[in-house]
Amino acid sequence: MKYIIVAGARPNFMKIAPIYRAFAARRSANPDAELILVHTGQHYSRNMSDDFFRDLGLPEPDINLEVGSGSHAEQTARVMTAFEPACLEHRPDWVIVVGDVNSTIACALVARKLGIRVAHVEAGLRSRDMSMPEEINRLCTDVISDLLFTTDVIAGENLRNEGVAEEKIHFVGNTMIDTLHQQFERARRLPLPNGFAPGQYAVLTLHRPANVDSPESLRPILGAIQTIAERIPIVFPVHPRTISRLNGMSLNDNIHVIEPMSYVPFLGLVAGSRMVLTDSGGLQEETTVLGIPCLTMRPNTERPITCEIGTNVLVGTDPARIVEEAHRVLDGRNREGRIPEKWDGHAAERIVDTLLAQTPVPQHGFAAAVTA
Ligand code: UD1
Repeated sequence: MKYIIVAGARPNFMKIAPIYRAFAARRSANPDAELILVHTGQHYSRNMSDDFFRDLGLPEPDINLEVGSGSHAEQTARVMTAFEPACLEHRPDWVIVVGDVNSTIACALVARKLGIRVAHVEAGLRSRDMSMPEEINRLCTDVISDLLFTTDVIAGENLRNEGVAEEKIHFVGNTMIDTLHQQFERARRLPLPNGFAPGQYAVLTLHRPANVDSPESLRPILGAIQTIAERIPIVFPVHPRTISRLNGMSLNDNIHVIEPMSYVPFLGLVAGSRMVLTDSGGLQEETTVLGIPCLTMRPNTERPITCEIGTNVLVGTDPARIVEEAHRVLDGRNREGRIPEKWDGHAAERIVDTLLAQTPVPQHGFAAAVTA
């Protein structure tokens, strides 16, 4: 059987790397299983893409669709029109998509309409916030997927409540955490930036459009960060979406603005920090596994398990609340967390074993797609 695995944007790369590795480990036992790696090119800068491939031991993609940036419609449409010919040429039995970015839904939609089966890794996460582009991507991808690989029990419940058939849902754990396990020792040995000592600094990331795209949203958040920086230095690797929005906003000297970091040094930075302030999805999970307090500056999360049993606190975007919770952590009154079930470093192996166990089905969709 032939499989295409798709990655498009930064958070996808950590999720596909262990799947790629688990496939390679099973190749000799399954000589007929072929895996093709497609990069859509949604992220393309060295520090948003190439560095991650190198760090994670991924090979050059077999196919790069080079779609680049654009509006949601432009980017999604470009991925679709570039991915369809790749599917028609290679005729995979399965397309594997991960996460919730525009490339995820675009490739799932193309595959499904060609009659190719779709496997979604990280299915069932729900923020219930339809103003988030990712929530739309998650819902649409799940509804057209044939296999839904979930990271936690809540995601499985979400899918069941939406009427997804039980046999499609596979609770496998978290492939991003597989990567964390694989890379942690390397990360721990790297020196920290600016000569920081472990536990003596905080880490900040901000890139959600709702937080950074308008000064009315960004200014109050940065105001809270300035107050927190009076107590602890803050390292702020700035996402390209956010960098231009910082122009004209003065930040105090205790906030160390740096370029986006590659995976392994960033993991080392987070692992050595006193706390993380973020609006990222993945960091909520990584901090839970590392036992680092995380303050998530969003009104909701699609990863509630990190708040229920992990170290994550959803603080919203009210500056007073952000500062109050940061003081709580710095005073040593943070919550202790536990690690969610099956976040054990073996999720990708479960995924690949499930995929390899699927029986082939005849493909009917190709001709219809060409003539439509
Ligand atoms: C995308 C994902 C988001 C994910 C984030 C991680 C969607 C809808 N959003 O958001 O879920 O959390 O990636 O980073 O898919 N840019 C560069 N270099 C790059 C890529 C982007 O400079 O390699 C700049 C461009 O100016 C671009 C902007 O960053 O317009 C935003 O990139 P885009 O891919 O549109 O969205 P993200 O905010 O990165």
